[in-house]
Amino acid sequence: MSSMKQNKRPNVRILISVVLVIAAIGVWTKFLSADQTPTASENSKALIGGEFTLTNHLNETVTDKDFIGKYMLVYFGYTFCPDVCPMDLQIMADAVNYLSAEDANKINMVFVTVDPERDTTQVMAEYVAFFHKDLIGLTGTLEQIDTIKKAYRIYAAKADDSPDYLVDHTAYTYLMDKDGSLLKHFNHGEDPEKMAQLITSLIK
Ligand code: NI
Repeated sequence: MSSMKQNKRPNVRILISVVLVIAAIGVWTKFLSADQTPTASENSKALIGGEFTLTNHLNETVTDKDFIGKYMLVYFGYTFCPDVCPMDLQIMADAVNYLSAEDANKINMVFVTVDPERDTTQVMAEYVAFFHKDLIGLTGTLEQIDTIKKAYRIYAAKADDSPDYLVDHTAYTYLMDKDGSLLKHFNHGEDPEKMAQLITSLIK
């Protein structure tokens, strides 16, 4: 009996030590993650953006390199969109119109279609002109559009199979830095004047 008791004590000590070590590791890991995990914005900065080759509304081939050196306001949608896209593109145009001419000159305004089957360069040309003379429309093959959607973490999917199908899609307006990385994103329905103020404070 006494030998059993003696055996039990060390076991309990080991058990307590193990529990303490695990607890310490847990606390330590929490400290580490609080300190070192990138913030949401740092994370998305690294995740959003990338290489692409597309066709602009003037029927010219363009790549991501053509947009380096300027800031870029970019929105993904489709010209048949009944409400969300027209609203956000008007907001983008209004925001840029609130900027000083000097600041506006530092920015490319870009609309990328997520519906290249219907949004040909001709359709895009007519559509972008409706919002702003400087708005650039980009379309491409299904594969090219898939590539840029992945690079910019854009979700888009046909909502139904009818000929007049709608497309569910992400409705962020991204402000990209001059090097093509993300500076900030704006949500659907942003106030254009506030957006302009933020853009002014972010660009140099
Ligand atoms: Ni839309």
